[in-house]
Amino acid sequence: MRLRRRNAVFLVVLSTFIGVSFFWTHREPPSNAPKYPPPHPYLHKSPPPNLIIPPKPAYGEVPPGWRPFRPPTSYLVKPFVVEPTLTQRLACVDQWVSRGEPCEFTERPQVDVVWTWVNGSEPVLDATRNRVVAAQSTTTARIPVRGSRTTHFREHGEMVNSMRSMRKSVPSSLVRKYILLTADVPADDTEELRLGSVPIWLDTSQQNDQLQVIHHSDVFRTPESSLPVSDSQGLAWRDRFVPSFNSLAIESQLPNIENLAPTMFYLNDDCFLLKPLSAGDFETPIYGPVFRIQMDLNVKSRPPGAPVRGDKEGEWPGLAFTNWLLDQRFGLRNRRYLSHVAKTLPAPIMREAAAVWAADIANTAEARFRGQRLQVNLMFLTTWYTIEKHRESLLYSFIMLRADADADGVLSRAERSTLIDGLDSGKIPVALRASSAHSVEQNLRRVGFEAPEQTEYTWFSSDGYPLIDTVQTNVKDSSAQHCTIDVKECFPSILSSSLDIFKRVAFEHPECGDCLIVHLISRSGKAGLDAFLPPMNAPSASAAQAPSLANTWQDATFFSGMGREYAVNLIQRYTYVIGNSPMGFLALRRGRDVLRLMDLSKSAAFFALNDDLQRELVTTEEQKLEAWYKHHWGGLRAWWEKN
Ligand SMILES: *[C@@H]1O[C@H](CO)[C@@H](O)[C@H](O)[C@H]1NC(C)=O
Repeated sequence: MRLRRRNAVFLVVLSTFIGVSFFWTHREPPSNAPKYPPPHPYLHKSPPPNLIIPPKPAYGEVPPGWRPFRPPTSYLVKPFVVEPTLTQRLACVDQWVSRGEPCEFTERPQVDVVWTWVNGSEPVLDATRNRVVAAQSTTTARIPVRGSRTTHFREHGEMVNSMRSMRKSVPSSLVRKYILLTADVPADDTEELRLGSVPIWLDTSQQNDQLQVIHHSDVFRTPESSLPVSDSQGLAWRDRFVPSFNSLAIESQLPNIENLAPTMFYLNDDCFLLKPLSAGDFETPIYGPVFRIQMDLNVKSRPPGAPVRGDKEGEWPGLAFTNWLLDQRFGLRNRRYLSHVAKTLPAPIMREAAAVWAADIANTAEARFRGQRLQVNLMFLTTWYTIEKHRESLLYSFIMLRADADADGVLSRAERSTLIDGLDSGKIPVALRASSAHSVEQNLRRVGFEAPEQTEYTWFSSDGYPLIDTVQTNVKDSSAQHCTIDVKECFPSILSSSLDIFKRVAFEHPECGDCLIVHLISRSGKAGLDAFLPPMNAPSASAAQAPSLANTWQDATFFSGMGREYAVNLIQRYTYVIGNSPMGFLALRRGRDVLRLMDLSKSAAFFALNDDLQRELVTTEEQKLEAWYKHHWGGLRAWWEKN
């Protein structure tokens, strides 16, 4: 508990500091900036003449490392369907959301583990990549094609060991499926078959439903609106953008994996697990998915057309653009970097976010290399979309469903006084709720779950919103904090529509909404979110509403009079917890960085080994890497490996 409090205090102090740089980073883009959304390049440019991908030998027999499969006949993105999250399957949603009292959960949680993998040493893929580079270079003759440098693409036994680490650290009863997403190429000119890449050590003859190998053709999809009439099923589109050599493009298509479990655990082939883990380290039906966020690392926004500073092929341009997208939908602010380790995502929310930004996701899929186009970072998008939707749901429930008691969409004088009750002083003390590892364990036991093995929960969505702007009143007592709310500014009496007030407080002046949340959390008592909710007998519309898929808050729709059940379900849908785990990260730039591997990973539960080598490892360095693998998984052979 002490740790948690310290983190939270650190967080609010930090956000005060960040508030200062706020205005600076959110200037309007220069007026000569390219228009957003960008004109769709696939529609507006004719393809380069020599783009025949890949080399197409008529394979007599399937070469090692490949397996034939029948490609889909359509590459159109499927319409969005609202699916419940794991948290929404909890039977006692009202009691949990309003009072923080859990009940038994009888289902077993199931996680789908997904890896993306490209064999960087595979000559067929190499040749394919070279052709794409050559085709893209026709206009910009000697300028190297962005993202095509080869450092992103070498293999040093990461994949087999990443999978072993999963096998060793996570009980297989917790895993519904192990899914591998890899590249594929045409088998011949007929396109009846394609060849999918398969790690040579993987035993695909195993008739085991728990292991599934899928390929880029199985998930790369585009909206019909982005296709020329002549390509009604997207086949020509597929030929231009599959296989992809861009991890952001590949990740952007994860929402198109069919029949995912509600919890997805995503690993790059450079992610490893080094300690035993339990469901509580991934997602539980009461606390939601566990997000690992580096709270001291700011992600600012970059509007389309603004210049990119630093490494154009690194992850920052995509993060900054994605933050800008979130700004348009939820209000301007800096958000925080996701820790560079494997990630838990709620699959239904990932699909929802992908539907909101369908055009941007499709545009990302078409960037075959890093650093081209405006790329969305799907992991960052989904995580912050969940957090922002939770905040939005709290404010929506309070203003549009609770304060507007007669559900007529207009705040009468009396209703307005409910709204601003207790806010007159303008100074709202931040009272941190006491929550301890002990109460987490107790609550989880009541739902039939074990405590997380390697995660300390540091921020619960039922604590409010993690990025509030606060003022420290007393330097000596770091717990004496307040936020400020200007009633006239936040709730101008000229606005009477509950929708207008909600949008102003939630998005236009996000600091108003942030502080209102602080106020209502303390009114809700020790646990739960009761002060946000309409009463049990509140008028309630009969038809439930699907989430609005608009990508700006101005266009998003919100309905009055939806009632209590709708409110608690909405809040529960976006429930999450921020967790701290022992983590480690090593960027391999020079070979000798390998020497630090053993040390840096010593106490880590989650580890990432980022290969950014400028030259190949020499033998002694390779041996070091081998020794590290052997140290952790030397005695282990997973059932999916060939003899
Ligand atoms: C990658 O491709 C190369 C060349 O075909 C092959 O020798 C190597 O075994 C492959 N790696 C894996 C893990 O399949």
